Amino acid sequence: TRELLLAIALGYLLGSIPFGLVLTRLAGKGDVRDIGSGNIGATNVLRTGSKPLAALTLILDCLKATAAVLLAQRIFGEAFGATAGAGAFIGHLYPVWLKFRGGKGVATLLGVLIPLLPIAAIAYALVWIVLLLTIRISSVSGMGAALSAPLSAYLLHSSLFPMLLGFAVLILWKHRENILRLKDGTEPRVGRAET
Ligand code: G3P
Repeated sequence: TRELLLAIALGYLLGSIPFGLVLTRLAGKGDVRDIGSGNIGATNVLRTGSKPLAALTLILDCLKATAAVLLAQRIFGEAFGATAGAGAFIGHLYPVWLKFRGGKGVATLLGVLIPLLPIAAIAYALVWIVLLLTIRISSVSGMGAALSAPLSAYLLHSSLFPMLLGFAVLILWKHRENILRLKDGTEPRVGRAET
């Protein structure tokens, strides 16, 4: 159990680093939570007008979870990778540093999948990219990708299925405002001027 708690703590620490917030601040763009959806994720960083910062946010929010899994596997053993991944995902969604108001988890879940279930990670990235290019609404593509994770785990007979189902539900929950905007027809498309 000591290893279990340490793996969760390691994951949480890495996962709770809000790269979107940190990077936009460092770039002198103010607080990303004051614009757009108020989210700290790459999509909202894009709304600051900087594609490089948005790309970097996406990559770092993803890789922090991958790093957590790989580190925990190295330090505590193979079996603790998923534990640290879970810690990282929860850390991103509910960071203590931001009064538990974190991101929506789409990039971070990809980072959990890459080391633990690479085939599911590929499917996830494909669903995300294809939906983004066709529908051009970030939340829709993100939620679609999120749902692909438990589906892939199920099809692959992976023991991660229950965890990933839980994570997909959390991602949908975090998108509840986006879902309301989608119903209203007011959810913005990416790459368009927003009102
Ligand atoms: O991953 C977040 C994305 O799906 C939605 O972001 O800023 O449009 O709420 P946002």
